[in-house]
Amino acid sequence: MSLLAQTSQALPRHVSIVEVGARDGLQNEPTQVSTVIKAGLVDRLAASGLMRIETGSFVSPRWVPQMADSAEVFATITRLPGVRYSALTPNVQGFQRAMAAGVNEVAVFAAASEAFSQKNINCGIRESIQRFTDVCAAARAEGISVRGYVSCALGCPYQGDVPVADVAMAVRELMALGCYEVSIGDTIGVGTPVQVQQVLAACLQEARADQLAMHFHDTYGQALANLLAGLELGVYTIDASIAGLGGCPYAKGASGNVSTEDVVYMLHGMGLHTGIDLERLVDTSHWICQALQRSNQSRVAQAMGSLSNHCVDPARV
Ligand code: HMG
Ligand code: MG
Repeated sequence: MSLLAQTSQALPRHVSIVEVGARDGLQNEPTQVSTVIKAGLVDRLAASGLMRIETGSFVSPRWVPQMADSAEVFATITRLPGVRYSALTPNVQGFQRAMAAGVNEVAVFAAASEAFSQKNINCGIRESIQRFTDVCAAARAEGISVRGYVSCALGCPYQGDVPVADVAMAVRELMALGCYEVSIGDTIGVGTPVQVQQVLAACLQEARADQLAMHFHDTYGQALANLLAGLELGVYTIDASIAGLGGCPYAKGASGNVSTEDVVYMLHGMGLHTGIDLERLVDTSHWICQALQRSNQSRVAQAMGSLSNHCVDPARV
């Protein structure tokens, strides 16, 4: 049996995609995107089969003005049954705003780097965990699931290298708070596959594979290779952003997440299921790029072109 066949046999058959384009993607757009476009994006993403959609962020509007209208976005979307529409909540104030907006799930975001924590949420890691304790307690009382993020797990724009032990410790703390899943963030997209496996191996000492997710920005073009490295360890929840939109406002120079279309194309080509209609996804990708007047970062969307001339999903070949 070929090495590839052996590898494919070891991989999970279904991969869960968390679409973060409407939050991680749009939070970094330089000009204000209208509520109607944001909601239109979310609705199109849901219609293409995405079941988990990060729809907004209840952070300080002074820190991230682009997300100031998240409550309106939640009020404007047409919710599809079974789809989980989530949002970031940095503190109890954000959690209360998220609840008022009818969010299905919230996320708290910690960092493995002290310097990034300060720049991103204006407090150190320890204090952030204290804030998240309060958010998790409030969420428990409301019966709301909390996802955790660990930013700068593969490198930090301020600190440089980040010790693997610091990533593992952040995972441990978030799991102890009751997060049902922790997403490991390569915030500035600098990681490479063996490093990803080293980091995930340490995280797997703190959480099961089905409790971890991979959130890789694609700044250095390593994200697909890094995802494959993670899949080999059994981590099968992947965060991705339509058209590769985005970047982090507090990580200068970082580009968007790996594009959802590129991830879906790779997974379908390997015989793995996502439940996503790639052609509809690509149409949405072109639609949002046109609406934002920006170039499309997805290689697959570029290759498949517009609705009228794109080729077929590799799963259907
Ligand atoms: P702070 O200034 O220290 O907050 O910000 P504060 O508690 O001192 O409050 C100051 C003011 O903000 C007050 O208003 C509060 O009411 C208000 P004032 O009395 O001056 O008028 N405020 C809020 N307003 C609305 N919603 C709230 C809220 N909280 C306070 N939730 C804070 C601390 C955490 C709020 C701020 O630093 C913040 O909002 N940071 C968010 C930064 C952010 O969103 N970054 C991008 C997302 S993280 C990311 O992209 C990484 C990720 O994708 C994973 C990866 O790639 O690695 C997740
Ligand atoms: Mg991110």
